[in-house]
Amino acid sequence: MSIKKISTRPFKDQRPGTSGLRKKVTTFQQPHYLENFIQSIFDVVGKIRGKTIVLGGDGRFHNKEALQIIVKMAAANGIGRIMLGLKGILSTPAASHIIRKHNLLGGIILSASHNPGGLEGDFGIKYNVENGGPSPEHLTESFYRRSLEIDTYYLFDAPDLDLEQPGENRMGDMVVEIFDSTADYTELMQRLFDFDRMRKLFGHGKFSMVYDAMNAVTGPYAKAIFEGHLGASRGTVINGNPLPDFDGIHPDPNLKHARELVEIMNSESAPDFGAASDGDGDRNMILGRRFFLTPSDSLAVLAANADLVPGYSKGLSGVARSMPTSMAVDRVAEAMGIQCYETPTGWKFFGNLLDAGRVTLCGEESFGTGSDHIREKDGLWAVLFWLNILAAKGESVEKIVQEHWRKFGRNFYSRHDYEGLESDSANALMGHLREILVGLAGSSFGHYEVDAADDFSYRDPVDGSVSTGQGIRIIFRGSSRIVFRLSGTGTEGATLRVYLERYEMDTERQNQDTQEALSDLIAIADNIAQIHTRTGRDVPSVIT
Ligand code: G1P
Ligand code: ZN
Repeated sequence: MSIKKISTRPFKDQRPGTSGLRKKVTTFQQPHYLENFIQSIFDVVGKIRGKTIVLGGDGRFHNKEALQIIVKMAAANGIGRIMLGLKGILSTPAASHIIRKHNLLGGIILSASHNPGGLEGDFGIKYNVENGGPSPEHLTESFYRRSLEIDTYYLFDAPDLDLEQPGENRMGDMVVEIFDSTADYTELMQRLFDFDRMRKLFGHGKFSMVYDAMNAVTGPYAKAIFEGHLGASRGTVINGNPLPDFDGIHPDPNLKHARELVEIMNSESAPDFGAASDGDGDRNMILGRRFFLTPSDSLAVLAANADLVPGYSKGLSGVARSMPTSMAVDRVAEAMGIQCYETPTGWKFFGNLLDAGRVTLCGEESFGTGSDHIREKDGLWAVLFWLNILAAKGESVEKIVQEHWRKFGRNFYSRHDYEGLESDSANALMGHLREILVGLAGSSFGHYEVDAADDFSYRDPVDGSVSTGQGIRIIFRGSSRIVFRLSGTGTEGATLRVYLERYEMDTERQNQDTQEALSDLIAIADNIAQIHTRTGRDVPSVIT
């Protein structure tokens, strides 16, 4: 057996986006494509000889083939040890935990998160650093620069590994430990949450739940925790087997794609609590009986009730939300007398704040919530946090949220996505917004007067790094907002995201339909950005 030195030529499109390098499966299947990017990571990270990394993925199409190649490249590049998820399965939160628990150099996670899978679908690679979090921007930019000049990669000449058997394997000097990460992850959750209390909740037979794993990575973890440790009835976890094509499900936990769960939760005999996670297990959607909870509100409610949960009962050091996420959590932070940070979109921006101990909880409107227990968002963690609150309060999701609104006011919130736009017209629309920004402050649209408008830029308070061009914000008097940005995770054309938010203190008016409550702002967004004229679209592709 030997190390093969293989000549290659750069691809021009390997710039990571909001969350790693994400492309069509067919792009990754091109000869040398995956190898070039992996070698770029190894070259840039440097000093990898003898070090340990964790490796695995969300089980989607091309996962196993890619893992076999990466293992051989790692051996050829001198990595000392790989902790590899059994059957190639490793959720993003579990990977983050393993890196932290064992002080690893980092980890490679193969995932395109909530994007569709299968041969026609998407694939992706993320590199996480030693704090367990996604690579910061300077590193992803270095991977990209390296990928533009790469001419060689290294591959160990060895047969494929059997990923189905736990245990240690050797490849040259490197050890590959195939392990089941559900035990480590469950043990972490047991440290944070009151498992006894939740077991009692299920035990008295009056409480029921459905969890939709969407045939993606969380199935094995969810079955072990809910049906195993907490004693929820069998069948609580639906779509619980990770499948390469997710059996046709688009593993994005929202009202459009988690169709089966939404139907169950809207039915006459709906269970008390419903939840779902995405492809790689870092997102969550929380539903009550015939009740949808926005992720922004979820973050605010978790923060307000953190004292009920053992892992957080000592208090929160601060909270953080991405800029487009609603300002509901800001009000909770204000009432608690703690700092609320506003960061650009993407979990990587929370890393420094968490490492510095400035924040305990953080979240994004895009169904992502997490805490300082790891450095990724964590779908099952959010579900357990909610379960723990439900067990402690003995009230329904709806009642808890209604009470929250009465106390703090309600931030009506919705995101409208226009997918698959021509890149040129999407860029022109954003260019137009940037041009008119300066003149907007002071102008009125119906009842709404613009207080401020800018292109969001962020100065990281920990390392001073600055990220510009992070989305157009139009802020109205009375805490209403419209935000426009282009997605950095799509693989086809461009996706315009329009985020709409209106604050309502009047309890009498807090139970309106969200889209109705936001209808004026929806019209103003179209008026300002000329969405219809510039894209030809009358309605968004997805409303969340
Ligand atoms: C989307 C979400 C963002 C999230 C990211 C990765 O990115 O909007 O909040 O961090 O996926 O899960 P976008 O496509 O908007 O760039
Ligand atoms: Zn994800």
